[in-house]
Amino acid sequence: MKKEKVIIFDTTLRDGEQAAPASLSVEQKLRIARQLARLGVDVIEAGFPISSPGDFESVATIAREIKDGPVICGLARLVEKDIVACAKAVKPAERPRVHVFIGTSAIHTEKKLRKSEDEILALIRDSVKLARRLCADVEFSAEDAGRTAGDFLCRVTETAIAAGASTINIPDTVGYVPPEQFGAIIDMLRNRVPNIDKAVISVHCHNDLGMSTANSLTAVAHGARQVECTINGIGERAGNAALEEIVMAIKLRSDFFKAYTDIDTREIMRTSKLVREICNMPVQPNKAIVGSNAFAHSSGIHQDGVLKAKNTYEIMTPQSIGLKDNRMNLTSRSGSHMVKTRLTDLGYIEKDYDLPSIYQKFKALADKKGTVYDDDLITLMEMAGNDEFEDMYALDYLSVTSGKGTVPTAVARIIVDGKITKQSAACGSGAVDAATKAIDEIVGYKIKVDDFHIDAITEGREAQAKVRIRASAAEGTFIGTGVSTDIIEASAFAYMDVINKIARMKKFKRKVPKLA
Ligand code: KIV
Ligand code: ZN
Repeated sequence: MKKEKVIIFDTTLRDGEQAAPASLSVEQKLRIARQLARLGVDVIEAGFPISSPGDFESVATIAREIKDGPVICGLARLVEKDIVACAKAVKPAERPRVHVFIGTSAIHTEKKLRKSEDEILALIRDSVKLARRLCADVEFSAEDAGRTAGDFLCRVTETAIAAGASTINIPDTVGYVPPEQFGAIIDMLRNRVPNIDKAVISVHCHNDLGMSTANSLTAVAHGARQVECTINGIGERAGNAALEEIVMAIKLRSDFFKAYTDIDTREIMRTSKLVREICNMPVQPNKAIVGSNAFAHSSGIHQDGVLKAKNTYEIMTPQSIGLKDNRMNLTSRSGSHMVKTRLTDLGYIEKDYDLPSIYQKFKALADKKGTVYDDDLITLMEMAGNDEFEDMYALDYLSVTSGKGTVPTAVARIIVDGKITKQSAACGSGAVDAATKAIDEIVGYKIKVDDFHIDAITEGREAQAKVRIRASAAEGTFIGTGVSTDIIEASAFAYMDVINKIARMKKFKRKVPKLA
């Protein structure tokens, strides 16, 4: 039996971004979109254009910039202004798509929308027709399809296809349907909707009961030919089906699914790391495919087996998802050409960064920690990417005394606007508290730290620590990150990152792009 292609529709930048701790900038979304294109996804859902001017601009920018590859899609409710804005945002793309949706379960139609079934069907017909007048490629989603009555779901699907939708998406919006039942929904549509052969059946599964991957794959086994998913499974609540799990399962078990995808699986790890970094959403160590333990063997029996024959406990190679041993170590002796080559390997395009300044930062890091790993480089680029505008405050000096029987005390010196140097000292309940209080004395902002998270981002004793702080101030909520081989310094850098973001907000009053 011939294998059929499964379209991979990535919604990291829409469903995934909805759940990120802070919304992403246009530039950050574009970087993820470029990597998604390199990964080989078929469709990038770039955002929900009507939801904010920033989202409109992100979708339009991605539509303009990402060429020779994926379809660029935007989301819209069945509302005229949504559809018009969405079509406008995706228009610059070589292959634009408008994705419209409406809730179809009784819970949605009766309680949220307060509309009869006939009213919903009329709305679907008119809105899909409008979308088709503005864009040749229209996808329709029956939100909460998993809890929609079978007869009505069939009528909804038939109506959307008759009005011009060429993809029908069946979301399990609340992650409620067990796999067998979900497979039966796909069978029902294929057997009962007369015009179903004119559309691709797509699925979009949430992970509230941990069934999103199983449901998506069951749907593929029952004939769905598009899967909507996100990198690392990020998304609303417990997230969406994880792209890496769907793709690797189809690749490894193509004998069972009789299907394939066009994903370059060697780009999976790189994409996963970029999304973790940019979205500030770490991945649990035991996460399938991309967790740090996914290829680690701990028990003696397993280690013995793997040493004798890898496939005793390894069903895929680390190389197949792009985890490769570093062929050449980057150290302070490495030249800028070597750094540029590794950055290209990691998906960075030279015109997007300033090599001399990155190389200078690389040298400083290499002097401190010896070997610079890929994770270090990604973090360094991410930190450099934060320089949207020049930082107003720079930490020039920090000395902290702490220990058993000592009152934690810090002295901080900060250069303001590259000109004035200010110094202050403070005591605190711990080293980080003392350091941030000394910084507060100088800057004078009122900041509340809501969340503090520390990770070792590279291996060994000389590992770099990455601190993420979520803090609130009168201007809003901010995420600050700081990296150093010293955890107190990393914490102070993260705090300074928050301070500089607040300073930017105050200075530039955040330029909000206008809807064209
Ligand atoms: O979960 C869902 O139903 C969605 C739709 C908008 C596709 O995200
Ligand atoms: Zn969703």
